[in-house]
Amino acid sequence: MKFSNTLIHWYLQNKRDLPWRNQTNPYFIWLSEIMLQQTRVAQGLPYFLSFTKAFPTVFDLANAHEEQVLKLWQGLGYYSRARNLHQTAKHIAYEFNGEFPKTSKDLLQLKGIGEYTAAAIASFAYNENVPVVDGNVFRVLARYFDIDTDIASASAKKEFTQIAQQLLPIGQANLFNQAIMEFGALQCVPKNPDCNICIFNDSCLALQNKKVGLLPVKLKK
Ligand code: ADE
Repeated sequence: MKFSNTLIHWYLQNKRDLPWRNQTNPYFIWLSEIMLQQTRVAQGLPYFLSFTKAFPTVFDLANAHEEQVLKLWQGLGYYSRARNLHQTAKHIAYEFNGEFPKTSKDLLQLKGIGEYTAAAIASFAYNENVPVVDGNVFRVLARYFDIDTDIASASAKKEFTQIAQQLLPIGQANLFNQAIMEFGALQCVPKNPDCNICIFNDSCLALQNKKVGLLPVKLKK
């Protein structure tokens, strides 16, 4: 698939060097994905570094006092994330002997792990062939294929997940998922993307139809 090959090629040349990449430790990936919910990479990065220094393994996090966990979380907000993180670390440490579930279906059973996070851990750590669909993915696909579906609607998640699944090259879920998210974060940005330098400016339907600024559609709930 031309889209996927071009995207992965772009990613390998343009990706940011982030500490939760280039490794497949599910604990680090889980931490980073929880921290980066509703949080920018620049803001989350120092928290990730101090957290993994204080708690280098899921056992260290499980054995920590809640006050210490919340203290290290201070400033990141949404404190239920930290409480769920701590609770789930105990579950993994004590019930699963420190072993993370290895499929997105089993990961989904854990507290604080929703569809996105389960797919992110399963694909980044285990290369499971599941697509991740976050705000970046909605935006890239809505523009590339000129899709008018309201991304806040109930059916949007299913529609975009199906498209992403079809684009996903078998055996390259890890690379493809990181690539499409990074492309949305760095190139196909929400406001005023520089389409002149875009690798897809010969094939993006929104660009051809002059709708880049109108997509994705997100109606107020
Ligand atoms: N935002 C959420 N997850 C991310 C990741 N794995 N890399 C960069 N930004 C992200």
